[in-house]
Amino acid sequence: MTGNTKHIHRSGWRCPSNIALVKYWGKRDFQKPMNPSLSFVLRNAFTETSVELHKDGDKKVAYYFEGVESPFGERIENYLNHVSSQFTWINKYNFRIHSHNSFPHSAGIASSASSFGAMALCLTELDFMHSGRETDSFEFWQKASELARMGSGSACRSVYPGFSIWGETQLFESSSDYHAIPLLDGVHPVFSGLRDAILMVDSGTKEVSSSVGHRLMDDHHYQRSRIAQAHQNINELYLALLTGDLEKFIAVVENEALSLHAMMMTSNPSFLLLKPNSLELINRIRRFREKSQIPVCFTIDAGPNIHLLYFQENEPEVKAFIESELLAFCENGKWIDDRIGTRPERLNN
Ligand code: PMV
Repeated sequence: MTGNTKHIHRSGWRCPSNIALVKYWGKRDFQKPMNPSLSFVLRNAFTETSVELHKDGDKKVAYYFEGVESPFGERIENYLNHVSSQFTWINKYNFRIHSHNSFPHSAGIASSASSFGAMALCLTELDFMHSGRETDSFEFWQKASELARMGSGSACRSVYPGFSIWGETQLFESSSDYHAIPLLDGVHPVFSGLRDAILMVDSGTKEVSSSVGHRLMDDHHYQRSRIAQAHQNINELYLALLTGDLEKFIAVVENEALSLHAMMMTSNPSFLLLKPNSLELINRIRRFREKSQIPVCFTIDAGPNIHLLYFQENEPEVKAFIESELLAFCENGKWIDDRIGTRPERLNN
């Protein structure tokens, strides 16, 4: 900080990324989901963000990503304009924001979830500090989830540990289109050992931007059946999470991953994001499961990379399988070793 800059307030958070098992695809109104989704947070893929409020200077937002001023600041400025209707103090300050990710830019891990998760946590903490409210409360996390959603829908699922659900579902009265809710109780212990090996097929490929992607569902031929399918899948997946039914877990997770891509392939315009190597990996994962009877499956985001999901107790066999049979189909043999994670953490400096 230089010269006579006055440091008013500061907040810093580390927030994990998340991967959806039941996919959010399609919006209603402003940042509300067409269907409910269910995801888990990752442990090693996270964003760390710090926000400083200043009274002086003439720039509303100075945004530094990995130490370099970044054009992402414009998106943050629009975001702050939106949320200033709730937090009027935002209009009184200029923002200096520093952010970095634990994963490389080209890793194919969606960074918007962890970035907006971390940003929303900082804003919520500043707001609670301004108004003298308790920051370690149920209301705090719920508000952070709601604010994260306004930046990027999937980000609202990043503020809770383990699994969370976003969007109204008959499963929980407390479920909401405005914020996610955590699945804290009752999840079978086998899922605390959930692993995610992110197999990098093509880090350079442009994913369908999520705003374009969600819009594809507005008049999609399969819109109604997709919504019904997501509700049914979330019911079945939740039951599988409670009972530890791995067969059901695998069936639902793979059905959701392929349905997301089916929606993209059959939309107008159409997108085909899976590469030959994505399909090769899918086939090999399925063959390995059949032959070894080890519970492994895949999920896929809006891109060509394959997330291989497996469980702690099978780690030696699955890692050997990755090394010997899968890495040949990854770009430069690249993969990321990740697992289910915990809640965001406050940064001290
Ligand atoms: O949060 P958005 O707008 O980037 O959309 C995310 C969409 C998917 O990642 C494909 C699915 C999901 O539920 O995270």
